[in-house]
Amino acid sequence: MARQMTQITMEELVSLCKRRGFVFQSSEIYGGLSSAWDYGPMGVELKNNIRDFWWREMTQYYDNIVGLDAAILMHPRVWEASGHVESFTDPLVDCKGCKQRFREDNVLEENRVSRTCPECGGELTEPRQFNLMFKTHIGPVEDAGSIVYLRPETAQGIYVNYKNVMQTSRLKIPFGIAQIGKAFRNEITTKNFIFRTCEFEQMEMQYFVKPGEDQKWFEYWKEQRWEFYRKIGIREKKMRYHQHGPDELAHYAKVAFDIQYEFPFGWKELEGIHNRTDYDLRRHTEYSGKDLSYLDDVTRERYIPYIIETSAGLTRTVLTVLSDAWEEEKLEDGETRSVMHFHPEIAPITVGVFPLVKKDGLPEIAKEIEQKLRVDFTTFYDQSGAIGRRYRRQDEIGTPYCVTVDYQTREDRTVTIRFRDSMDQIRVRIEDIATRIKQEIATYRRVE
Ligand code: GAP
Repeated sequence: MARQMTQITMEELVSLCKRRGFVFQSSEIYGGLSSAWDYGPMGVELKNNIRDFWWREMTQYYDNIVGLDAAILMHPRVWEASGHVESFTDPLVDCKGCKQRFREDNVLEENRVSRTCPECGGELTEPRQFNLMFKTHIGPVEDAGSIVYLRPETAQGIYVNYKNVMQTSRLKIPFGIAQIGKAFRNEITTKNFIFRTCEFEQMEMQYFVKPGEDQKWFEYWKEQRWEFYRKIGIREKKMRYHQHGPDELAHYAKVAFDIQYEFPFGWKELEGIHNRTDYDLRRHTEYSGKDLSYLDDVTRERYIPYIIETSAGLTRTVLTVLSDAWEEEKLEDGETRSVMHFHPEIAPITVGVFPLVKKDGLPEIAKEIEQKLRVDFTTFYDQSGAIGRRYRRQDEIGTPYCVTVDYQTREDRTVTIRFRDSMDQIRVRIEDIATRIKQEIATYRRVE
């Protein structure tokens, strides 16, 4: 089959995501809230599947990594200790002409050398530091004493709980604590769809190690995290590592590597792997007055553990998967089809089930098959319209397998399974469908 592929543009992706129920603009009927997005029926399945895959990979497959779900609101001293109140800032510039506000690094990126307004070419002010944390108040009195922040990273919930978790789970170093949850940043740059938003989800794992063994574990996690993206089907040719230079390092990091992806708007960070040293636990010891050291009960050594952090954006991974999976294919017969090549493990729907026609007992058989397949897979039953159109609809939302019941099914209890990527079809017995699909998922490879 001759196929010609094109890379999706951001505009096309936004429109497809809306049309097929992946992502909607937040509060759309009121004109939308910039930088906030809602996940529709397909989007929430995709996001949950990526989340569950990460959770399995990062907790279930390790004896020494456990989970946590900490509150979004934390004691305000946490953010003083972590350095976020003082240092979690972006340099912002204002245009003296059109009054718009930009991040200085983005202006330089867009305009290369000149420091002028990207919108109107006007003169810009000197940069001012702007803290990215959202502030709100807890309790009925809105005074300085009631300020709390919406967490800008999930990590701190892990650090302040590390002794609770270690003691209750009887863990010994090295061990990890994993968490998935919302984080909030008052981001000024609001373009590029769900890439950078004010409210987003992180999947973070903090690995507590002995000082001196940190480099070894850093290398280990750097590789494991690359593997994760490969396993969820991201093409490796679109991924690369990027080491942070001294001017890029976050205030807590000694060494940091990003895994970057080549989005339609260029190479950008997908995940950060950081050696945070003993910075966070030392600062929390100082600010809380509590002893956060670790005692090795064999060697009797006492030390503050070093932390290797793997910090991924769940919502950003959704964008990565969507941009990576989409293709517009020109087929041999001159037709085009739009297809999402999601890895079957994360596809919103795994199996579509159709009767060839809406009569002669075929819908009843198809419904019965779909009911059985539901136990193992996310399924979708569709009997409306021509069969070719039904396949195309499933291609566009990335359903890897479609089962069709036809007249032959009535005679010999066999159905066809049609494969999304190759569009090939095979015939199998009804009782073999689930086993065959499980085999296909386990051995899936995207062919390019
Ligand atoms: N705890 C470390 C930390 O938060 P980060 O590099 O600032 O590190 C980690 O963020 C990941 O979180 C990023 O690689 C990205 O995937 C995601 N992320 C950060 N800010 C985001 C935003 N405004 N919108 C969407 N995802 C974001």
